[in-house]
Amino acid sequence: MKNWTRKDFLKASLAAGAVGLLTGRRLSAALAGGSANGDIRIGVVGINGQGGSHMRTYFDLPGAKLVALCDADEAVLNKCVQEAAGKGIKVSAYRDYRKLLEDQGIDAVVIATPNHWHSLMTIWALQAGKDVYVEKPLSHNIWEGRQAVEAAKRYPNRVAMAGTQNRSSADIKEAIAYVRAGKLGKIQWARGLCYKLRDNIGQTVGPQPVPATVDYDLWTGPAALTPPRRNGSRGSVHYDWHWFWNYGGGDISNQGIHQMDVARWMLGEPGLPPSVMSVGGRFGYQDDAETPNTLISVYHYEKAPLIFEVRGLPMKAGMRAMGRYRAAQVGVILQCEGGYAHVSEGGNVTLYDNDNKKLQFLANAGNISNVHRTSFVKAVRDRKVIDGALIESHLSTSLCHLGNISHLLGAECSNSEIGEAIRSNEPTQEAFGRCLEHLKANDVNGEVTKTRLGPLLAIDGAKEKIVGQESKIVEAANRSLLMKREGRAPFLVPNFQKAT
Ligand SMILES: NC(=O)c1ccc[n+]([C@@H]2O[C@H](COP(=O)([O-])OP(=O)(O)OC[C@H]3O[C@@H](n4cnc5c(N)ncnc54)[C@H](O)[C@@H]3O)[C@@H](O)[C@H]2O)c1
Repeated sequence: MKNWTRKDFLKASLAAGAVGLLTGRRLSAALAGGSANGDIRIGVVGINGQGGSHMRTYFDLPGAKLVALCDADEAVLNKCVQEAAGKGIKVSAYRDYRKLLEDQGIDAVVIATPNHWHSLMTIWALQAGKDVYVEKPLSHNIWEGRQAVEAAKRYPNRVAMAGTQNRSSADIKEAIAYVRAGKLGKIQWARGLCYKLRDNIGQTVGPQPVPATVDYDLWTGPAALTPPRRNGSRGSVHYDWHWFWNYGGGDISNQGIHQMDVARWMLGEPGLPPSVMSVGGRFGYQDDAETPNTLISVYHYEKAPLIFEVRGLPMKAGMRAMGRYRAAQVGVILQCEGGYAHVSEGGNVTLYDNDNKKLQFLANAGNISNVHRTSFVKAVRDRKVIDGALIESHLSTSLCHLGNISHLLGAECSNSEIGEAIRSNEPTQEAFGRCLEHLKANDVNGEVTKTRLGPLLAIDGAKEKIVGQESKIVEAANRSLLMKREGRAPFLVPNFQKAT
């Protein structure tokens, strides 16, 4: 990501209404218990990739002051502390997040650790009296995401916001208003697309060493403590955890959560769907990763279905370019009777008629990540989250988990068996047909590398549980790691929910 210039900030702050934020900041900071000059004192946690980007934003974001950094990897921590020093910013450095939370000189934390830590770190921050911005996805599993939402209700004086940044997109809001006004007619379906090249991460034999600079007990936190089983170009610990169920949820929960959130938002669905079903697998190479690189998850909302497609393989074997669905590679298509909306990865919207003629183009004011970060500073000032509410992120994150749960409970089948099983499910059938073409173009022989067909899972949205007649499947789904994990002391997620 490019460094944020002052010009970008001005654009972003206009979009987020931050002009009032700047003028009123001393008074509100006093109310919020901020620093003497009114700046919100920020600590960034988990600073290797995305956290490093947050840190750089807070080097010079008006209204905020970077005061602390935290990372379980001493090498990452030292590098970032030095980078901050190079900008003339002296920060407190922590390896243990619990110590950072004891620091009374910090008002708000920005969490960019791996997913398996997100909900617990959010809850601990609220309990420690800090405001919090937590990266997407909100949770590693549905139960923990719910606890974070309930914790935020328990601490209403604190601000809690999620890093699903498209929620700050003014033009998505405009497009939603356009659709809600009926200008494109009735909604027929929403399709989230995550066509993003994901390379082979290599194959190891046995447990891999943890670098001496990493406190692996802290890094693992609430996940099960097991040695790393990967050692690709990113090493044995960082980034590639995305492709292991103990920590992440594959690309549907990584890049895909952004498009899932936009798709559900555009559909106007305020909860979970009555059922979900997935088809997919990991194709094209053999490596250590566990999560699928090809997945279709269909969410059967009553009004209109939400179809989500993940593709990690390119357009064709030997290429790096990715295929498209209409204009989208990573994006959302909302199909209505009279035309459709395409939302790009960066949150820009184009409206088309059904002959693909452009009706309107709506462009964001600036980089959407920076607009969202500005929204956070404003939310802390105003003590009110407008964009990026935890509940929205929780629901969309839960959709990703549900798609993965169906996949995990699935069985490998031949393409003809799958075709038969999904015969009466038009959206799944259509997406699967295109998916087979895509796999063929990548020389994947579907009869040798079989695809996994997940069961159709019925969902009780109020209880956030799987229900239905087939008790074996229901029990297995509710026991899934992505529904609720055992946890690991002393990193246990507190229960904020009444027993159901
Ligand atoms: N909003 C977005 O567009 C966006 C973009 C990229 C990544 N992300 C999210 O940001 C998060 C981080 O992604 P990444 O690619 O930077 O991962 P990464 O593995 O490269 O970096 C994570 C860092 O967190 C540190 N960490 C782990 N446990 C810790 C702990 N207990 N205390 C302190 N530090 C700890 C690690 O040592 C590492 O330096 C992910 O959840 C990802 O989904 C969001």
